[in-house]
Amino acid sequence: MKGLILSGGKGTRLYPLTYTRAKQLIPVANKPVLFRVIEAIRDAGVTEIGIVVGHNGAEIEEAAGDGSRWGVKLTYIPQESPDGLAHAVKISQDFLKDDPFVMFLGDNVIQGGISTLIRDFANHAWNSQIVLKEVADPRAFGVAELAPDGTIKTLIEKPEHPPSNLALVGIYMFDSNIFKAVHAIRPSKRGELEITDAIRWLAENGYVVQPHVHKGWWIDTGKPIDMLEANASVLDELVPEIAASAEISGSDIDKRVTVQDGARIINSVIHGPTIIGEGCVIENSYIGPYTSIYHHTNVRNCEIQRSIVLEHSDISDLPSRLYGSLIGRKVSLTRRDLKPQALTMNLGDHSSVQLV
Ligand code: G1P
Repeated sequence: MKGLILSGGKGTRLYPLTYTRAKQLIPVANKPVLFRVIEAIRDAGVTEIGIVVGHNGAEIEEAAGDGSRWGVKLTYIPQESPDGLAHAVKISQDFLKDDPFVMFLGDNVIQGGISTLIRDFANHAWNSQIVLKEVADPRAFGVAELAPDGTIKTLIEKPEHPPSNLALVGIYMFDSNIFKAVHAIRPSKRGELEITDAIRWLAENGYVVQPHVHKGWWIDTGKPIDMLEANASVLDELVPEIAASAEISGSDIDKRVTVQDGARIINSVIHGPTIIGEGCVIENSYIGPYTSIYHHTNVRNCEIQRSIVLEHSDISDLPSRLYGSLIGRKVSLTRRDLKPQALTMNLGDHSSVQLV
């Protein structure tokens, strides 16, 4: 069994963060989503993993390296243009050969890992296994309709009128028959070779596609709100740990807080689930539940809750609590003491600010 992670795409819905960083490298609970995907595949016993990369391939490769840190072997497969998930499978044929494989979208986060799914696939004569999840609005996803006996009736990509509320999660298992399917289908309305169409082709041509309805949480980290949601879900499951090298003084830290190496917490109140990254300084501040502060960020005289703050940022003296926010790298956010008392901003393209 091999692994295939798709890590292309521009991540436009996460602008401005994704102007300067691949969306798969944005951390959730202080670990890039892509690293969580690699670990989920490795934990299921799969160690030969291909990563399909687009325009930010060099950045992804620099971050993940050869995979030895996780005990896996990573092979990078460049996709010249973002022509769809089925196109990514097509160009990975040399790497995958005739082996069965699990394909995992590099921006998906799922509760409970994939070990059971991989085991089930290995133990059955299925040609493909897909993962489905009930969602409130399936129009943004591939959607499956099941027959009364639980088999697949049909699959359709981003339907205007969804036949069910079962969305296709970005985790798929295939044997080598998928190559027949990706060569048989034609581009969709959005001009892409859709994996949903390829799976429908398998089902319509007598191959066994087994659906699995996932009961835990699943998040496709496409939008800022999804990132915050994924961050909250992962923090909820994190086993808290205070690093021995962390320095805590005059502070009230509850049981669900993780403090990483060399972080300093001074005269502050921290309510978990929350993670404070390596080398951070939190001083005279309140950090509330569902917050992740990535490494070497300083927070002084502030309140922050349900937010993600990336590395090397400075946040100080804010007049109100920061909530539901996604703050990038090397951001400086502070109060202005000089006259005139005005808001002074230097924001990147597609930034969004809401004031109270
Ligand atoms: C892709 C697939 C879609 C699937 C989704 C899961 O959508 O095309 O079928 O439901 O991933 O994350 P996209 O990310 O291309 O919008």
